[in-house]
Amino acid sequence: MKNRSDRGRALAGQRQTESADQMRAISDLDEAAAREELARLAEVLARANAAYHTDDAPIMSDAEFDRLRQRNAQIEARFPGLIRPDSPSAQIGAAPSDGFGKIRHAKRMLSLANAFEDADVVDFVASIRRFLSLPEEAPIAFTAEPKIDGLSLSLRYEGGRLIHAATRGDGETGEDVTANARTITEIPQILTNAPAVLEVRGEVYMAHADFAALNSRQAQAAAKTFANPRNAAAGSLRQLDAEITRARPLRFFAYAWGELSEPLAPTQTGAIARLAQFGFTTNPRFRRCATVQEMLATYAEIAAERAALGYDIDGVVYKLDDLALQDRLGLRSTTPRWAIAHKFPAERAWTELEGIDIQVGRTGALSPVARLKPVTVGGVVVSNATLHNEDYVAGRDSRGLPIREGRDIRVGDWVEVYRAGDVIPKIRDIDIARRPTSAAPFEMPDTCPECGSPALRAPGDSVRRCSGGMICPAQAVERLKHFVSRAAFDIEGLGAKQIEAFWRDGWITSPQEIFTLQDRFGPGQPRQVKNREGWGEKSAQNLFEAIDEKRRIPLARFIYALGIRHVGETSAGMLAAHYGTWPAFRQAMAEACDSASPAYAELTAIDGVGPVMAQSLLTSFQAERAEIDALAALLKIDAAQARATDSPIAGKTLVFTGTLERMSRAEAKARAEAMGAKVAGSVSAKTDILIAGPGAGSKATKAAALGIEVVDEDTWLAMIGAG
Ligand code: IVH
Repeated sequence: MKNRSDRGRALAGQRQTESADQMRAISDLDEAAAREELARLAEVLARANAAYHTDDAPIMSDAEFDRLRQRNAQIEARFPGLIRPDSPSAQIGAAPSDGFGKIRHAKRMLSLANAFEDADVVDFVASIRRFLSLPEEAPIAFTAEPKIDGLSLSLRYEGGRLIHAATRGDGETGEDVTANARTITEIPQILTNAPAVLEVRGEVYMAHADFAALNSRQAQAAAKTFANPRNAAAGSLRQLDAEITRARPLRFFAYAWGELSEPLAPTQTGAIARLAQFGFTTNPRFRRCATVQEMLATYAEIAAERAALGYDIDGVVYKLDDLALQDRLGLRSTTPRWAIAHKFPAERAWTELEGIDIQVGRTGALSPVARLKPVTVGGVVVSNATLHNEDYVAGRDSRGLPIREGRDIRVGDWVEVYRAGDVIPKIRDIDIARRPTSAAPFEMPDTCPECGSPALRAPGDSVRRCSGGMICPAQAVERLKHFVSRAAFDIEGLGAKQIEAFWRDGWITSPQEIFTLQDRFGPGQPRQVKNREGWGEKSAQNLFEAIDEKRRIPLARFIYALGIRHVGETSAGMLAAHYGTWPAFRQAMAEACDSASPAYAELTAIDGVGPVMAQSLLTSFQAERAEIDALAALLKIDAAQARATDSPIAGKTLVFTGTLERMSRAEAKARAEAMGAKVAGSVSAKTDILIAGPGAGSKATKAAALGIEVVDEDTWLAMIGAG
């Protein structure tokens, strides 16, 4: 226990040092400067709070939010006479909306890959042709339509009646906003001649004129105004009181579908026409394009009309028109292969760089972060931007070649900030003419600002890393935050903010302590969660229940949650699919430590697992075996489900070699995986079938030597029913 609170204090102490290094030291502030900074902090924090809790559009990271709150508290401690009536210290944050029920989507709600340049669109079309093995002259049509900047909604109709409406959520489970959706006039409640089951998907948005009128009504009533139509739409749809939603002018464009009891049409164009017949509003700018040139011309047309459309769009979405081909292309982990969003160029603005902070991530990477004088970029207030790494700040890319013509970035510079759709803004350029003469080149620290350990840069690595491992408080807390994040354990009521607070007080210092929290700080204990600031009887109880719910976890999520470097969601999924169960995976990692072992050969033969990921996995399993085992012992880790068990190749390990003539390698791999097979990159004793096209070389020889079944492309096509 002592140890934990010591660590908590060490973190607080380090943070103070960090603030002192990067901002004006509190002891140097005079009253006027303190008053001014408190006013600025009150404003920035209030905005961040509203953006996070109410508008669903965070404008800063949790770490930055906490850092600013702490700075505010420190200034207040020194100048108690200056504490403002609207001081951020007095606010605990808006209530999380736990009032909506959950709905599991019958089919996942996907997001879209992005294209930023014409060349990306050309590549997209070319990659589809390659995947489908289409010759260059074969016609292939796409649809193009505006990408609406709102929030997506899934509407489920059974027997022609709207039965529920759900937000996207994490793509698998969304919030039940049925009562609110029923108040939107563009959403029909009853459909005639519709399939028995029909899920319609589209975007809820607010038109410019309605947004302006809403904001002026709100201002007159001294109520909250919204920063942009997207926030207004999100805030209006996610109202616990549907009568408030009714009073808000929301609209809906239908552009996709989920589960269907029968197909709508053979093409995207046809399916959208059916949705329009059912009474949905579909976008009038929807076009079918026969060539890439037409797609790009449609993009240019829509871009030219953008300002006059009357609602916000942020790009153009292209979809392959033929639905049978869409089906063959299938999905990546979160995006379809058959669609892409061609984004409009990012919004930009100039502002002053007030400081450069160093954030320490979960793998120890030290990242410089720009602290900016707040500026509005495309409707969102930006006060931070990523600076990637020290080379980027110095004006070099990872190969040492100049970026920004070699101009470095210094505190005091005027910088051009841009937002390209995602939440973390970036710096595009600096204005060297406005550089103050006193501005000094930035120097990356060679010790970790959080724990003081040496921060080292390995040859060939673009980032400097803290060598403190788990003694580094920042790494420890970031790993915990990763552990509870959405794609990992996703524990309701236990987000980054709560983790920080529990961590600071030494209540949760490792993942396994999450699962013993109730024993240590639940009913009957001297110190209890319910007595903490921001918690009560009910919320504490909900938290314990939410934790209990996650004691059972799918293998892929568990592997991802461990936060092993280079093991992202997709790789975790592949590892889970390959090894099947936790004991099998755990055993394989123990055996693979010997690089001459069959287990090592098996690991590196998994398609997508290279030596770097393998090394990272083995290092983690060696260094943290005891912790990982202790954690696993508290959980029930569900085996990965073979996706299809009734196919002739389910559960088998396949290797492709040589040229496939009727199907691209990418499609063959996707098909095999969809039918429950594993695809490996090299032949080993574990290989069940080698599919050898013309030109097969050493793999075929090796397979023959090992007595493995070798088949040709025709047999393969017959096996998957495509012959
Ligand atoms: S299609 C499988 N079409 O953009 C693809 N999405 O960045 C499903 N969006 O989550 C989406 N306008 O919320 C599609 N015309 C459009 C869209 C659109 C806006 C949103 C949608 C999606 C997000 C992905």
